[in-house]
Amino acid sequence: MTVARGVAVELGSAALLATAGCAGSPSIFHTYGSYSRIIAPLGWTATLGLGAVGIAVLALLLVAILRRNEPDEDPYDYHGRGARWLAIGGLAFPAVVVSAFAVYSLATLRTVESPRGEPAGTIRVTANQWWWRVDYLDRGGDTEFTTANEIHLPAGRPFRVLLDSGDVIHSFWVPELAGKTDAIPGRTNSTWIEGDEPGVYHGQCAEFCGASHANMLIRVVVEDSAAFREWAAAQAEPARPDSAGMALFDASGCSACHRIAGTLAQGTTGPDLTHVGSRATLAAGILGNTPGNLAAWLRSPDSLKAQSRMPDLNLSEPAIEGLVSFLEGLK
Ligand code: CUA
Repeated sequence: MTVARGVAVELGSAALLATAGCAGSPSIFHTYGSYSRIIAPLGWTATLGLGAVGIAVLALLLVAILRRNEPDEDPYDYHGRGARWLAIGGLAFPAVVVSAFAVYSLATLRTVESPRGEPAGTIRVTANQWWWRVDYLDRGGDTEFTTANEIHLPAGRPFRVLLDSGDVIHSFWVPELAGKTDAIPGRTNSTWIEGDEPGVYHGQCAEFCGASHANMLIRVVVEDSAAFREWAAAQAEPARPDSAGMALFDASGCSACHRIAGTLAQGTTGPDLTHVGSRATLAAGILGNTPGNLAAWLRSPDSLKAQSRMPDLNLSEPAIEGLVSFLEGLK
């Protein structure tokens, strides 16, 4: 392939990249909340503006390749027209473009750091390999109830999100509702999230965090305020597990890592299971919450999620069956 053809191919792939990835969900260009609406123009400006700069640079490269040196031109003349190109194109232009973007980005960051509308509350989201712990906090900052991998929000009301990590750096990202914020061990980052219309919005860990980084999904359910209040009240209730199921849960070793509020199972290594039956997904969004999927998960977590921290407990089939009906009953 000649260099000129290589440049043409590069231009073609850039154009393809610019148009691909917009179909399907979720995308920063499909905005369903006041924070994502502030961020989207920054995304468009970056995509189109920097795309134009990239195409201009490639076009100049093409011109440089195709244009022969004049026979009497000194290729090492640093004071002629070449010097002007360097000063303008290599220094002044990038300095202006990068500074303008820095100012625009910082201004956007400042805007999304404040509540837009009357805040509805605060959640603490703790990222772990490879799931999300979600604590709904009361006004005093104490945990009201805990859930996992699923956030519910009342439509039109911003929630403050405090982000922690239990192990490595992760990044919390629900593109249609809010910007990306890192979850860093040993520090608490803060951001806001809000959704205008009832619906389910999908998010994803956006920082490579190990083998199952791609299997670290989060669902945000935006609902009207009555439905949200009902959901929150139900989540705050302790579980009422049947005693046979609870005994099987303990005997199988599950309570070492999982908590069921209102029982002696108080493990915090894995997701809180107090109302696991009410959640739409299992294993941080990679499986629908069905008895069949839960059985498959208990049988062999590692084959569904690489290097899952949930061990294969070599449970017997009757034990799996018992645990599935017990856990699905925790609504
Ligand atoms: Cu967590 Cu990537």
